[in-house]
Amino acid sequence: MAENLELLFQGFHKLTREERLERVKQMCHLSDTDLDVLEGKTGLDLDRAEHFIENLVGYFPIPLGLATYFRIDGRDVPIPMAIEETSVVAACSSTAKWIRSFPNGEITTGSTGKLIIGQVQFPSVSASAPILKILEERKEELLRIANASVPGLVQRGGGVQSISARSLPRPDGGEMLVLHLYCDPCDAMGANLINQVCEAVKPYLENWTGERVGLCILSNLVDSKLTWAEVKIPGLEPAIGRGIAEASLFAEMDPYRAATHNKGVMNGIDPVLIATGNDWRAVEAGVHAYCTRSGDYQPVTKWRFENGTLIGRFEAPIVVGTVGGVTKLHPTAQVCLRILGTKHADELARIIAAVGIVQNLGALRALSTVGIVKGHMSLHATNLAIAAGAEPLEMPLLREKLVAILKKEKAITMSRAKEILDLIRAKLPLERPSGDKS
Ligand code: MEV
Repeated sequence: MAENLELLFQGFHKLTREERLERVKQMCHLSDTDLDVLEGKTGLDLDRAEHFIENLVGYFPIPLGLATYFRIDGRDVPIPMAIEETSVVAACSSTAKWIRSFPNGEITTGSTGKLIIGQVQFPSVSASAPILKILEERKEELLRIANASVPGLVQRGGGVQSISARSLPRPDGGEMLVLHLYCDPCDAMGANLINQVCEAVKPYLENWTGERVGLCILSNLVDSKLTWAEVKIPGLEPAIGRGIAEASLFAEMDPYRAATHNKGVMNGIDPVLIATGNDWRAVEAGVHAYCTRSGDYQPVTKWRFENGTLIGRFEAPIVVGTVGGVTKLHPTAQVCLRILGTKHADELARIIAAVGIVQNLGALRALSTVGIVKGHMSLHATNLAIAAGAEPLEMPLLREKLVAILKKEKAITMSRAKEILDLIRAKLPLERPSGDKS
């Protein structure tokens, strides 16, 4: 039976950082070395980073938080999120908590298909019919050549399984032909593998067809490997359920709203991709391309409220890996995978989809009830207080004053926050922490 982390999730945000680290160690069975990595005492050193990119000059650190209260497919999962935006981790946690507060509230996930796509392009062919015939006749040979280029993957049970081709009319009246190779990458994201396969088959294809091959590259529109996540809340107060369904309808009818709606979903998805060392640009590209499949840009989640039950569904390509690449080499990504308690790409993709839809629900719930400013008021005030330069002892008073202004005026500028801080300082000579000579 899955471990119940309810007690360990409780009050997590109220703990000190040291206490949080101890809690996460307990929750996720981490080692002291893992904690050192999380705290940045060890981890990705510059020598190792030299192997990642070129012209290395330093780091760009992003805060890593832990979203709590997620129960996905009946398993309690702490969610590591690398993100600089205030409120996202808190909104995710409180929405996950809200879902599980309903007796039959649930988050379920799944996937459809497991094959990624490699594209081999014939830019301009004299006629597509004879090429399609050759591809059909030589299909088995093509699959053999393709798989011979990735023997390790084939050994792990993956590899190229099928092909398809289609002809596209060119603007100059000619024809372009595009071959797709469908490959099971197992637990890898598979970009390098599939690019390798496409380039390996290129000379054979040119030889068999007498046509020139152009680009050989993966497609990020992986509609042959989709991940879905559903949230179901029976017994929801009708005013809230209807508000969320209406917010969904707005996004379904208006691409201007759909873009922002989807940004909210990606607020949940990208931080987990980053924390696990996955290629978030690839997932972003795939999700947005998938959202246009009907011809209109659509929201990646849709919500309905029927018979007292709110149901939301996310479906899109989330192609990630748990082996190879940065995931394997980045020590923090490795610890984050341990926090998530998974070694499998399919499960990771499903968790990520769940975080995306929960984040979206949090935003829609706030937008359709109190509004986003009020919903995030307290965090916004904390953020402003930090940015204004408040010291730890000054924080509570400044926050309290900022929240009061936000409640009354609905907005506040940084210069106003600084002015208030100056006033606090003028009236209240604050004790400096010991050792501080300033
Ligand atoms: C802000 O980062 C994300 C939201 O704008 C998403 C939405 O509007 O649904 C709040």
